[in-house]
Amino acid sequence: MKVLVATEKPFAKVAVEGIREVIEQAGYELTLLEKYISKEQLLEAVADVDALIIRSDNVDDEVLNAAKKLKIVVRAGAGYDNIDLAAATAHNVVAMNTPGQNSNAVAELALGLMVMAVRNMYNGTSGTELKGKKLGIHAYGNVGRNVARIAKGFGMDIYAYDAYCPDEVMVNEGVTPLHSAEELYANCDVVSLHIPATPQTKGSINHQLLKNMPKGAVLVNTARKEVINEEELIQFMQERTDFCYVTDVMPAADQKMRELFVERYFATPKKMGAQTAEANINAGIAAAKQIVDFFENGVTKFQVNK
Ligand code: 3PG
Repeated sequence: MKVLVATEKPFAKVAVEGIREVIEQAGYELTLLEKYISKEQLLEAVADVDALIIRSDNVDDEVLNAAKKLKIVVRAGAGYDNIDLAAATAHNVVAMNTPGQNSNAVAELALGLMVMAVRNMYNGTSGTELKGKKLGIHAYGNVGRNVARIAKGFGMDIYAYDAYCPDEVMVNEGVTPLHSAEELYANCDVVSLHIPATPQTKGSINHQLLKNMPKGAVLVNTARKEVINEEELIQFMQERTDFCYVTDVMPAADQKMRELFVERYFATPKKMGAQTAEANINAGIAAAKQIVDFFENGVTKFQVNK
């Protein structure tokens, strides 16, 4: 059995060693394609592999066509919008993710971005504190819950909106459930986005939603750039000079936003929420174990293209 780790943004070395151990202990072979710069390299590397571990790497119909022997692809992480699920199903390829494995890392970065925003991007001027501010968590999944846990330590007043999460789950964790995105944005000083990119959510963070946010509000995006309606965000930020946007997923209009919104816009140069040794180890080894469990025992617990 040949397993390929194809990561344009590589895992920490220690995580790759852990993946190798799991794969080789099962008697399989591990190959690596890291920091690749062209799709051709990926197409070539997948040609003879039975299993594939990826991160935000795109697995589309062309990749699946080139991967003639592929039976399983595991996204070492949460969001699987980078896999063409219908094409995977059509090619009889099982697609999985590793939910929860990197969520603490992303949550810590979300809080880090919040601190940066309320301290005026560390420019030395007098900022404000997170303590006592209303935090709105948009989607209460694995990352959202970790954000709530950490934000409690900051003394924030925590609210969440998640159409799929029962109120009791939030209440039990000291979070006040709200029942629409509109209500969340209108009431919270800081909103942290944790929604996946789906046809329903793409472009859903728009002017209409942002316009009722309180004065001095901050939007933190460690989710996906596609959920933002960029044109409307830019329009809104031009109108509302008190509003701050900090993101780990660089907008297409990054350059323009840098120029327009000095000291109230920040984007990391490369998505780094899950870029910690711990998250890489957790997600990478989980992916390797899921592959072995799939081949050895037929386990499809984390399949996302059923
Ligand atoms: C995820 O969906 O797990 C996160 O966005 C992390 O993505 P990455 O593995 O590309 O850093």
